[in-house]
Amino acid sequence: MSVFTITGGSSLSGRLTIHGAKNSALPILAATVLCPGVSVIHNCPPLSDVAASIAILEHLGCAVTQSGSTVTVDATHLDRNDVPDELMREMRSSVIFLGAILGRTGRAEMCYPGGCELGPRPIDLHLSALRSLGAGILEGPDGLACTASSLVGGDITLSIPSVGATENAMLAAVAAQGVTTITNAAREPEIVDLQDFLRTLGAHISGAGSSVITVEGGHPLHGGEHIVIGDRIVACTHLAAVAAAGGDVELTGVDYRHLSTVTSVLAEAGCHVKSGNDFVRLRRSGPLTCVRPIRTAPYPGFPTDAQAPIMAGLCTARGATVFVETIFSSRYRHVDELTRMGAQIRVEGQVAIVTGVERLHAARVVAHDLRGGAALVAAALGAEGTTVVEGLQHIDRGYYDLDGALRSLGAYIERID
Ligand code: EPZ
Repeated sequence: MSVFTITGGSSLSGRLTIHGAKNSALPILAATVLCPGVSVIHNCPPLSDVAASIAILEHLGCAVTQSGSTVTVDATHLDRNDVPDELMREMRSSVIFLGAILGRTGRAEMCYPGGCELGPRPIDLHLSALRSLGAGILEGPDGLACTASSLVGGDITLSIPSVGATENAMLAAVAAQGVTTITNAAREPEIVDLQDFLRTLGAHISGAGSSVITVEGGHPLHGGEHIVIGDRIVACTHLAAVAAAGGDVELTGVDYRHLSTVTSVLAEAGCHVKSGNDFVRLRRSGPLTCVRPIRTAPYPGFPTDAQAPIMAGLCTARGATVFVETIFSSRYRHVDELTRMGAQIRVEGQVAIVTGVERLHAARVVAHDLRGGAALVAAALGAEGTTVVEGLQHIDRGYYDLDGALRSLGAYIERID
């Protein structure tokens, strides 16, 4: 088992290039199944979730090579339409293969997906979207059996702008005959990136980034090539680390517009933020102050994935900041760990009230999920003493070489096996 040891108190400085976005790379890898050709994906971070997606692709009969952050998928000889349970349970995103496999082969079998435990994570919207395109779906206690001799375009209206359900609907709709309209679609930048990739395969799709996506399905697809966008949540995590530890850091490789709800909160707290076409710079020298209530929401609202890291960054902000987590019902598992480090946080249902303390202190803490784990790393960088963070298997799912990146900014962090 590996742990991080982090000695806090050093401010961070320098320039860092942010790696590709996990939540973009995963649906794009699933989308490669749609076409009998070769797709080349650049800026695809070598994360454990990416490795799990590659294992699924290989199980389906695709030939996959990975060189650094470039993944090449040849789906010409795909010859299966099931996903093994152990791979399904590794991550939530495995369910996105459902729409792609069904679109490519007319049949798909898999158990229910795993992933971070953030409260109930049903897939009812995924299934109703696929049923709207003519899929027959048997939901059993152990999993799903889906068939569609041919998918037919139709109108899909999502009751919640679910990221995953939007992605599954887009993939199936590309293979369906006729026009599909997805209303109340998710508007995340990762949805736009998926649309851009599908277009390189020859798909006729538009509207991503807005609430209505239109797909003219049934066009012949071929291989494609794409560069994945920078990871806005990884960028937010590094900004939170600077807020916690102090310093002056410039991030590149990420679109500053994707971070605007987060950078405006940090600016309100007293950080100096400067951004331009390909960079975001954050400087924190003096004390922070509390900010107006932070309510998580679908994009372009405040991202739920940044809630934990930003909370860590505001644990020493003078006054009280209220967080309202509206997306997931159990996304405060980092609070007890931050409290071990001396934070003052009261949770009541979806609301967390963070009252600033002078300084956090070191402790032995455990990451219970991906973003909660990253938050503990950020908090430790500002804390007094040497903190030990366990549960790195969660952090590795979404952050590539986090300790190396932070060391390049002057942090005292080590990965100890
Ligand atoms: C994506 O998860 C991200 N994961 C999550 O990031 C992110 O937190 C989430 O979107 C919200 O932004 C990936 O992209 C791989 P949703 P997803 O479907 O698609 C409910 C991280 O840290 N819902 O938009 O699973 C659901 O329970 C991860 O990188 C249904 O009720 O999220 C939740 O309350 C964690 N029925 C809400 O919608 C459904 O069929 C939003 O979920 C689907 C979702």
